[in-house]
Amino acid sequence: MVALGILVGSKGRGSNMRAIAEACARGDVPAEVRVVVSPKAGTPAAEWAAENGLEVKVVSVKREDYGKALVEALEGCSLVCLAGYMRLLPNEVLEAFPDRVLNIHPALLPKFGGKGMFGIRVHEAVLAAGETESGCTVHLVDEQYDHGPPILQLRCRVEPGDTPETLAARVLELEHQAYPMAIRKVILGR
Ligand code: GRF
Repeated sequence: MVALGILVGSKGRGSNMRAIAEACARGDVPAEVRVVVSPKAGTPAAEWAAENGLEVKVVSVKREDYGKALVEALEGCSLVCLAGYMRLLPNEVLEAFPDRVLNIHPALLPKFGGKGMFGIRVHEAVLAAGETESGCTVHLVDEQYDHGPPILQLRCRVEPGDTPETLAARVLELEHQAYPMAIRKVILGR
């Protein structure tokens, strides 16, 4: 069984983490969540994980040895999933997990990605550009924001009258399907 480490962010809504954990529990993905790493305690993601029997480790971004501490927290994992993790990943983690770190982005990369392009801003930009479709991308993580090779994308229409919020909600539903599918693809090669 492949051991997953999930890195959540400081906002830590955790809906993708939850979709991954539930897909593993259902047997849709041949993996188990070994650890959820959160920058702080008490976020919705950290609380849900703990209540649902997942191991949660808190690693503060303020630590001088942050990169090393993340690698230590991920000990025993063979695949790492960023889920709401908004920072550039320390090199130590990329070196410890070469081509084994995934991220999800709420747009069709390479469009609408990069530094500062997160949350509702992504969907505002998609609407401002007059796009007729959007979606999400799961990709391998490298040393740049939203940059590594894509693993899979799921698409949806941008509907007339969409607001950033309605589009975000439609894309988020796709994300919850896409992340487990992408993990399965990385593990099984299909
Ligand atoms: C998602 O939209 C994801 O694409 C982006 O951050 C958001 C995290 O949401 N990277 P959640 O915490 O998984 O609900």
